[in-house]
Amino acid sequence: MRDLQNKHILLGVTGGIAAYKSAELLRRLQDAGATVRVVMTRGATEFITPLTMQALSGLPVSLDLLDTETESVMGHIELARWADLILVAPASAHFLAGLRLGRADDLLTTLCLAATCPIAVAPAMNQAMWSNVATQENCRILRANGIAFFGPDAGLQACGEVGQGRLLDVPDIVRLTTEVFPSGLLAGRTVMITAGPTREAIDPVRYISNHSSGKQGYALAEAAVEAGAKVLLISGPVALAAPQRVTLINVVSADEMYAAVMAQIAACDIFIGVAAVADFKPVAPAPHKIKKQLLPSPAAAGPARDAQTVSEPRTLTLSLVENPDIIASVARLPNRPFTVGFAAETENLLTYARQKLENKRLDLVIANNVADSSIGFNSDNNGTTIISADATVTLPVASKRQVSNRIIAAIANHLAAKEGQP
Ligand code: CTP
Repeated sequence: MRDLQNKHILLGVTGGIAAYKSAELLRRLQDAGATVRVVMTRGATEFITPLTMQALSGLPVSLDLLDTETESVMGHIELARWADLILVAPASAHFLAGLRLGRADDLLTTLCLAATCPIAVAPAMNQAMWSNVATQENCRILRANGIAFFGPDAGLQACGEVGQGRLLDVPDIVRLTTEVFPSGLLAGRTVMITAGPTREAIDPVRYISNHSSGKQGYALAEAAVEAGAKVLLISGPVALAAPQRVTLINVVSADEMYAAVMAQIAACDIFIGVAAVADFKPVAPAPHKIKKQLLPSPAAAGPARDAQTVSEPRTLTLSLVENPDIIASVARLPNRPFTVGFAAETENLLTYARQKLENKRLDLVIANNVADSSIGFNSDNNGTTIISADATVTLPVASKRQVSNRIIAAIANHLAAKEGQP
């Protein structure tokens, strides 16, 4: 079993007979190395006492949104930030409905709204409640929003009925919890990532470039290392420190990035193109700094003018030629690696992203809305949608690092499926 060492898990317990199993779950998560804090709904306290959970976790149990005692230990926003994962087990039908609606009427739903970490739910309820169309619709929307579902299981229920709705067995919940974190998922794999912008020279002092900060590519490199991969990071010019345990190759132009990628791609299992590669470059960069005074006047093309006598602004025409499409070239290689692209768009996000998946023959596309400045190029947060040939999964807005863990886990899962592994 993979380790939960150093992981902070916020265990949410909602009202239902399966709540008694959350005490055992808490213990097993601790055995796997996690630090667990418990949040209980009022309904949960009817089935299991906060004292039990407090004694087992060794930490205060939070019950109410406006509880001055627990707020003074750790405020609810702080608690949401503390968590690497919110795991709600058991998750009642009532809780799932509240989560789907984005309600914040108790501490647990409020934490889920405030959290930027992944959220997983292990539903437990009567089989008729589970199969009810309202619950199923809630779950469909929650899944589409990136909430992970652990179960439910089928079998004999506490009410005596048989069907789907049982809480998944505790060891299975612990196993799925470890899989939320990418450690070990890419062990033995070599991953190449392109990141940042490229610069296309106009002359020795000027260039064409774009707003890419490199943050998402660097965060993915860190997540891939944590997942056990050997990582080659081919980076355009950015103001970021090299991630630890990553082989960093600095490049400037798209041509240099293309050459650096092709030189080492044969050794790679996975290629992730995060770089905002300039699509065009000047046909012939000037060998010396272009001098304004030497440009022709639009009014009287002819001899160079003095700045004092200018009446019409000068124009400068640059001829541009297309750069190589790096990711499309990688995807065309005979022994291509698993190839993942990013689609940064300002409109028609999903349509354009799907076109890129097909046109560039990619295995996955991560779609980004860069028109939204809260999640765009220079932001520390990102909201992304993972698109494959047969599925579209939207991840909740989270830090670029947390989003990276989810992307790496998705890549590992898709790669394993492609290779026919379980
Ligand atoms: N990409 C690349 N080489 C290029 C252009 C893009 O490897 N010359 C990769 C990017 O790293 C990204 C994906 O292709 O993974 C999509 O990049 P994007 O700039 O969104 O797409 P373009 O193909 O350039 O299309 P457009 O600019 O028209 O949206």
